[in-house]
Amino acid sequence: MDITITRTSAPRPRPDEDHIPFGTFFSDHMFLMDYTAGKGWHDPRIVPYGPLPLEPSCMTLHYAQAVFEGLKAYRTAEGRVQLFRPTENIARMARSCEKLCIPEVPADVYLDALKTLVELDADWVPSAPDTSLYIRPFVFATDAHLGVHASHTYLFCIITCPVGSYYPEGLDPVHIAIESREVRAVRGGTGFTKCGGNYAASLHASEIAEKQGFSQVLWLDGVEQKYIEEVGSMNVMFKLAGKIVTPSLASGSVLPGITRKTALQLLTEWGYEVQERNISVDELIAAAQDGSLEEAWGTGTAAVISPVGQIFYQGRTYTVNDFQIGPVTHRLYETITGIQWGRLPDSHGWTVPVC
Ligand code: COI
Repeated sequence: MDITITRTSAPRPRPDEDHIPFGTFFSDHMFLMDYTAGKGWHDPRIVPYGPLPLEPSCMTLHYAQAVFEGLKAYRTAEGRVQLFRPTENIARMARSCEKLCIPEVPADVYLDALKTLVELDADWVPSAPDTSLYIRPFVFATDAHLGVHASHTYLFCIITCPVGSYYPEGLDPVHIAIESREVRAVRGGTGFTKCGGNYAASLHASEIAEKQGFSQVLWLDGVEQKYIEEVGSMNVMFKLAGKIVTPSLASGSVLPGITRKTALQLLTEWGYEVQERNISVDELIAAAQDGSLEEAWGTGTAAVISPVGQIFYQGRTYTVNDFQIGPVTHRLYETITGIQWGRLPDSHGWTVPVC
C-alpha cells in the first residue's frame, strides 16, 4: 500500500533537548489509516499533526475499544536513526487487537508506516544523551453508535514525540508501594494487552501512592492479591540469592514487555539462572528482610531499566541494595541502551535502520 504524504506548512514548537518532559511535545506529522468493514484497511497517509474529528457518540469514548503501543527511535553517534525490535510491538499489538475484537493492522504496512513517519520527522529525533523519539501507535473504534458490540470502523494512528527520562529520577532508584487493596487486572481479562482500560484502572491507587511520595504502585494479582505482577509502566525483576526471578506471564494479567523479553534473553546469555514464576509478596518481603533480595529493577520501553531502591508494604519500607543501582541492573541498562543508541554491536539483529 502506498502512503500518501502531506507535509506541514507550520512546523511545531520544539523542546530544549536537555530538558524534554516525557510525552509533551509532538512532532510535525502523524500517520493515519482507516478501516471499514467489508473494505479492510485503506488510505494510509501522513498528514500534519493535529486534532482528529470525533463524533460524541464515537464508540471508543464509551466502551474503550482501543489499544496502543510504545517504541522508540534512537539517534546514533554517527547521526543514523534506528528502531529497536519494532516487529515485537507489531506482534504484541496484533494480540491486543485480537482480545479487543479490533481488526489486525497488516504487519508490512505497520512497519512501513513507522519507518516512513520517522524518516520524514527524522530531525525530531534528539541527539542529547538519553533522549529518543517515543513512537505511539494506537488504533481505536470510530463507529458513531451507542451499543456494546465491536465497531465496524477504526482509525490507526501513529504520533511521535521527543523524550528524555520517563521518571524524573532518571537512573536513580525509585520508591514503589505494593498495593494490597486495589487491583489492575485479573486472570482472563485484558492485563496482557496494551489497552487504555488497564491504565485507567491503575490511576486511583497510583494517585494515592504518588501523594505519599512513591513513584509507582507494584500490583499484586487480581485474584488472591498474593503474587507480584507488574508496575503498570514497567515489568519487574528481582535478583534473589543470585537468581533472576520475574513474574510469569501465564496468568495473562501481566504485560509481555519487550524490554522484559530483551533483558531475560541477555541475562540467560550471561549465565544467570532466570526463573519466570509466581513470586508471592511474602517471599519477596522475607527476602528483603533476610538480605537475599540483592537487586530489584523495572523494565519498560519508556522507563528502559529503572532500579527500585525502596519497596513499601503494609506500613513498612524495605530498602534494596542500600538504595544504590546494583551491578546487574547497571549492566542491563548499559547493554540495552548501548545497543539502542548504537554504542554496542547488535549481535541479535534487534535494531532496524530508518535513515
Ligand atoms: C511504554 O513503556 O512504552 C509505555 O507505554 C508505558 C507508558 C506508561 C508510557
